[in-house]
Amino acid sequence: MNNKILEVRNITRTFDNIKCLDNISFNLYSGDFLLIAGANGSGKTLLMKHLNGLFPIKRSTIFFKGEDCYKKDDLMKKRVGIIFQNPDSQIVGLTVKDDVAFGPGNIGIKGDELNKTVARVLSEMEISHLSDKNPYILSGGEKKRVTIAGVLAMNPDILIFDEPFIGLDYPGVISVTKSLLKLKAEGRNIIVITHDLEKIAAYCNRMIIMSKGKIVHDGLPNELIDKVSDYSIRRPFQKDLKDMTWLT
Ligand SMILES: Nc1ncnc2c1ncn2[C@@H]1O[C@H](COP(=O)(O)OP(=O)(O)OP(=O)(O)O)[C@@H](O)[C@H]1O
Ligand SMILES: [Mg+2]
Repeated sequence: MNNKILEVRNITRTFDNIKCLDNISFNLYSGDFLLIAGANGSGKTLLMKHLNGLFPIKRSTIFFKGEDCYKKDDLMKKRVGIIFQNPDSQIVGLTVKDDVAFGPGNIGIKGDELNKTVARVLSEMEISHLSDKNPYILSGGEKKRVTIAGVLAMNPDILIFDEPFIGLDYPGVISVTKSLLKLKAEGRNIIVITHDLEKIAAYCNRMIIMSKGKIVHDGLPNELIDKVSDYSIRRPFQKDLKDMTWLT
């Protein structure tokens, strides 16, 4: 066990003389469901953008299954998928099925294989009935599932959810939580960034707290949950970690 999927070693990123990421190192292990919490501006999204190649790294700082991503820069784009906070920023197709086909189409999947991939991920996200709709007219929760389907269609090894619950109503939160748990049950490696700890912490096996560009804690959620309020994160009112979910 403890099969290392991702190793991040000493990432630092400076903008305007401020270290927005300050010597970040952590590992992701097979089957991890990692929760990342931190105040606004602590560097969470910026770090995730480094993990899937949106910010090119300047030296050997990220290793995917032991392979140096500095030497193989398309590796992270293929193996790490991010579901961003705002689905509108991620939607590119005029129909749901075109949107979901965009990513795999870009990496050369076509014809029958592409159609099958799209049908599979739409079904997995339970949005097959929306296939011919214009994604922009969908509800927030439906859009979120379209963007998850689009990322799943690339079959990444690591899925990153950046604030998955923002803007969702109660059924939307339930639906996205169930999608996350389904992906976890399939054995996907998942990173969830959120301020809403009470919606998801019950299911996470690890937790990282970020502050001012640094990882200040990396450990077990039940050991770290009482520390979050030191870093401008609201501690859920539930006493026990197992109750930090909206699923009943
Ligand atoms: N392209 C960029 N150019 C300059 N500064 C940037 C850039 N991207 C991020 N930053 C800065 O890096 C810091 C961390 O930003 P980041 O988006 O990672 O915060 P965050 O932890 O995701 O916060 P939030 O909870 O508000 O989403 C911020 O101060 C931000 O202004
Ligand atoms: Mg962010």
